[in-house]
Amino acid sequence: MIFDLKDKIALVTGASRGIGLEIARSLLNEGAKVILCSRKKQGLEAAALALGNPESLTIIPAHIGKPDQVDEMFRIIQEKFGQLDILINNVGMNLITPGIADLTPELWQKIIDTNLSGTFLCSRKAALMMRAKGLGKIVSLSSIAGRKATPGMGIYGIAKAGIEMMTRVLAAELAPFNVQVNCVAPAMVKTDFSKPFWSSKALLDHVTATIPMARIAEIEDVVKPVLFLVSDGSSYITGQTLVVDGGATII
Ligand SMILES: NC(=O)c1ccc[n+]([C@@H]2O[C@H](COP(=O)([O-])OP(=O)(O)OC[C@H]3O[C@@H](n4cnc5c(N)ncnc54)[C@H](OP(=O)(O)O)[C@@H]3O)[C@@H](O)[C@H]2O)c1
Repeated sequence: MIFDLKDKIALVTGASRGIGLEIARSLLNEGAKVILCSRKKQGLEAAALALGNPESLTIIPAHIGKPDQVDEMFRIIQEKFGQLDILINNVGMNLITPGIADLTPELWQKIIDTNLSGTFLCSRKAALMMRAKGLGKIVSLSSIAGRKATPGMGIYGIAKAGIEMMTRVLAAELAPFNVQVNCVAPAMVKTDFSKPFWSSKALLDHVTATIPMARIAEIEDVVKPVLFLVSDGSSYITGQTLVVDGGATII
C-alpha cells in the first residue's frame, strides 16, 4: 500500500465503469471501505462482482442530479457507517454538446444538473458529515475542457469550470474543519466516454499531436493523482486543481 487508507469510508460516484471503477479498485487496495454509486443497479452489481472484496463494498444506485436520491444515499451512508471520510465526485456526462446559440434551455439544464448540480448535491451532504467529524477529503473530476474553450464541448466545459470554482469555495469554507477539497482535470483518457475520439486513428493522431507526451492518458494515469489527493500526502493542499494532461495545456 502506498497511500494507506485503511478503514476510511469512501464514496465514489460514477463507479460502475471507466475512471470511477478503477478509483474504487485502488481505494479498496489501499484498505478503504468503498461505496459505489451510479444510476443503474445492474451496472453496480457487475462492478462489485469485478472488484471482489464484497465485505468492503456497498452499492447504492442513485442519480446524483436528483436531490431526493442523493439525500437517500447519504441517509443510508449515515445509517450504515455514521461517517464519510472521502468523496470522489467522478460523474461527468454529455461530453459533446451543441454550441450555445443552438442549445435549448432543457438540454442546458440536463447537462448542468448532472455535471455541476450533482457535484454540489453530493459535496453538500458530504461536507456536513465531514465538518461534524473535523476530517475529510473531497476530490472532483474536472477536465481541461473546463479551462480551454472547446467548441462542441462547451456546456460540459462550463460545468467543469463551475466544479473547479466550487472546489475553491468549498475548500476555503471547510479549511477550518480540517477538510481538504481538490480537483483533478484530465485531458483525454482512454474510456468508453471518449471512445468516439480515440477509436478513430485519424482523430487520435490529431489529438496526440497536441500533447507533449504524445499519448492520451490511460485510466491509471488519473487514478494515482486522485489517490494522492485523498491521502495524508496532500494534507496541506486544498482548493487546487491538478491538471493531468501529459503537458497538453502548457503549450
Ligand atoms: N474519459 C475522458 O477522456 C475524460 C477526460 C477528462 C475528464 N473526464 C471526467 O472523468 C470522469 C469519469 O469519466 P469516464 O470517462 O470514466 O466516464 P464513463 O466511462 O462514461 O462513466 C461514467 C459513470 O458515471 C455514471 N453516471 C452517469 N450519469 C450519472 C448520474 N446522473 N448519476 C450517477 N451516476 C451517473 C455511469 O453509470 P450509469 O450509466 O449506471 O449511471 C458510469 O458509472 C467524468 O467526470 C469525466 O467528465 C473524463
